[in-house]
Amino acid sequence: MTAIHLQGDTSAASAIPPIVNPAAGVAYLDGAFVPIEEAKISVLDFGFTRSDVTYDVAHVWNGRFFRLDAHLDRFFASMAALRLKPAEDRVEMRRILIDCVRRTGLREAYVAMVCTRGRPPAGSRDMRLCRNQFIAYALPFIWLATPEKQERGIHATIGSFARIPARSVDPRVKNYHWLDMVKSQQEAYDRGADVAILLDLEGNVAEGPGFNVFAVSAGAVATPDAGMLEGITRRSVLELCRSLGIPASERKLSAEELRQADEIFLSSTAGGVIPVTRLDGRILGNDAPGALTMRLREAYWRRHETDPEAVAVPYDD
Ligand SMILES: Cc1ncc(COP(=O)(O)O)c(C=O)c1O
Repeated sequence: MTAIHLQGDTSAASAIPPIVNPAAGVAYLDGAFVPIEEAKISVLDFGFTRSDVTYDVAHVWNGRFFRLDAHLDRFFASMAALRLKPAEDRVEMRRILIDCVRRTGLREAYVAMVCTRGRPPAGSRDMRLCRNQFIAYALPFIWLATPEKQERGIHATIGSFARIPARSVDPRVKNYHWLDMVKSQQEAYDRGADVAILLDLEGNVAEGPGFNVFAVSAGAVATPDAGMLEGITRRSVLELCRSLGIPASERKLSAEELRQADEIFLSSTAGGVIPVTRLDGRILGNDAPGALTMRLREAYWRRHETDPEAVAVPYDD
């Protein structure tokens, strides 16, 4: 394995060849940096067999992390909720995440942090005996919808599968319980749509695979207040609304209200503010992204340039 060891083991590190093609992705696990193709966990890891794992995804744009500490806060809250305690502390994790990106050289990157339960001792199924493992990796940026597609606006459908109830799996703890979303997304493709929006059991909007949902009606923005991950991009959008004087509320949003909305957009680390121009075949506006959506989208990307908390990656070149 092409591993670069941490923790001052310079003799080992200098004896190991550098990662070939680091721009394809670099991962950290078990105290070492490895090429992304070599980053593997056991098939016996409860993260794999039971989805007993949590994760978070931040991004780097123009060589700077956007809201890294907000992602780390959420990741730590998720680990605490699941009683996961990896060996690395927050300062180390932050350093490792930055180092993963530095090693890739990527100026635009998708950066994941994962904590998995680990595997139990042979013959046991006691989760308390597992060694929880922190994994990090940086990849070329991943788009939920490419910038070209965003210019046109994406097409959404309301799926027939309900989001897993929050009482069963807390959606605020970022998780891989995605089969409701996978089924919904397959349905979306079957219907010729780009993405599926999931409702909760009462028929209110929840979220979708990798994004939060917003409706714009009569100049006011609304987004669900429950049953979804509290997205960092969603938070940015609400803050931007406040600073731009756009009325915005977090509240119940019925499917009917979404269907009647003047504009719809999605929010995600994987692409920012993403305009929706069709919902179940209904054309919104004149089949082009709405004006308010575009204003927020521009403000979101502008904030990347002006954010005083952005964390610069110390690249080698
Ligand atoms: C289920 C779900 N909802 C919402 C989001 C959006 O969250 P964020 O803006 O923090 O990327 C994600 C992100 O991956 C997600 O997986």
